[in-house]
Amino acid sequence: MHRISMLGTGLIGMFYTMALHGQRGRDRVSVVYSRSSDRVKAFAEKWEIPRPTTSLKEAIDGTDSDVVVVALPNYQHEEAVLAAAAAGKSVLCTKPLGRNAAESLRMLEACEQAGVFHGYLEDLIYPPKTLKALESVKNGSLGKVLWVRSRETHSGPHSDWFWNKEFSGGGAIIDLGCHCVEIGRSFIGKDIRPVEVMCWGDTQVHPIEAEDHAIGLVKYENGAIGQFEVSWSFRGGMDLRDEVAGTEGTIWLNHWLRTGMEMFTAAGEKGYVAEKAEGNTGWLFPVGDEVVELGYRDMFTDMFNAIDDKSTPRETFYDGYVVNAVIDAAYKSIQSRRWEPVDLPIWRGKDGAASVSAVRDFDAEHTIIKEERMSDGTMKVILRNKRTNKIVQRVI
Ligand SMILES: NC(=O)c1ccc[n+]([C@@H]2O[C@H](COP(=O)([O-])OP(=O)(O)OC[C@H]3O[C@@H](n4cnc5c(N)ncnc54)[C@H](O)[C@@H]3O)[C@@H](O)[C@H]2O)c1
Repeated sequence: MHRISMLGTGLIGMFYTMALHGQRGRDRVSVVYSRSSDRVKAFAEKWEIPRPTTSLKEAIDGTDSDVVVVALPNYQHEEAVLAAAAAGKSVLCTKPLGRNAAESLRMLEACEQAGVFHGYLEDLIYPPKTLKALESVKNGSLGKVLWVRSRETHSGPHSDWFWNKEFSGGGAIIDLGCHCVEIGRSFIGKDIRPVEVMCWGDTQVHPIEAEDHAIGLVKYENGAIGQFEVSWSFRGGMDLRDEVAGTEGTIWLNHWLRTGMEMFTAAGEKGYVAEKAEGNTGWLFPVGDEVVELGYRDMFTDMFNAIDDKSTPRETFYDGYVVNAVIDAAYKSIQSRRWEPVDLPIWRGKDGAASVSAVRDFDAEHTIIKEERMSDGTMKVILRNKRTNKIVQRVI
């Protein structure tokens, strides 16, 4: 059993506590920190947490916890992580790890130097259907992964600090793109180096300094492409979708607006519908168990199992740092309007990964461009002559 210091009582502090205290879990939040004494007391009462405090130092250093969970605004991650590492405690930090790769790298290095466990709380790698999809890709069901499209869009975040570029580190890209980048990496292969990024971003709706809408391409060393689409100006709820395209197959995942329950109500749903739902009448897409569907349950199971086994969880601060480096390149690309290299002062994956190119021979003289079963039952094959480059078709 682990005793946890929960730093932050906002949206994510609440989701994390719900996940940890849900079902019959063993690990408990024993200390909770928030700036306001009223909020922290109310939170502690609701979740039966013995010690509420308004002192960050006390929450991190106290002897009544062995794991620190950082659920604070982005600009406070570094301070909290460094303090947890100095206190010799295991530390789990929400996404994005830092506002940029320099911050993330300092957090990674502080934990490694202190020899403490670090886990990056990237929940969207852990929804049960994503874990199943990752397993299928690993087993080769999709062949070689060529393209991963990941999309998270909604009408914008719920607290003031997200909208302040200095506090958050950016706009929709740092907030939502961090999920999409790590989803892309996970399907393409976390040991494949992200090489360069091309990104468009704009501020279309909200009067802020940062981008509220962006689309980016991340090119990997093996030729695979990760595509992220993010928006704080999308209407209609939270659109969370991933697509994986391989040489032998395809996976489509829809995590939110179509999770299997579709409901029409003229009378209106009286309670809560789902995170970022914009209405409570007409067609609705309620979510059965948000904590599970968003991956929090399986994420904490992986993290605490890894702490117990002294093993490495699926997501560490190293991953958070690589994600930040990709995002740094995306921000540079918006400015330069060019492909920008991903700067990774530390890289622990492969170098010189083999290309995903998947050309197959038909015979000694031809490669296959395309095969298709036609409506009359024949098989049509389109071929390229290796010597002359002439393209011909044959019906078999
Ligand atoms: N899917 C996810 O993993 C996910 C979802 C939402 C948020 N997050 C991340 O969680 C973190 C917090 O986001 P949130 O949605 O809970 O935000 P929030 O605004 O709902 O809550 C933030 C918490 O930090 C506290 N706080 C705010 N400013 C502070 C300050 N200056 N000093 C000390 N405490 C302060 C607030 O009181 C509150 O307890 C962010 O890094 C965000 O990116 C992750």
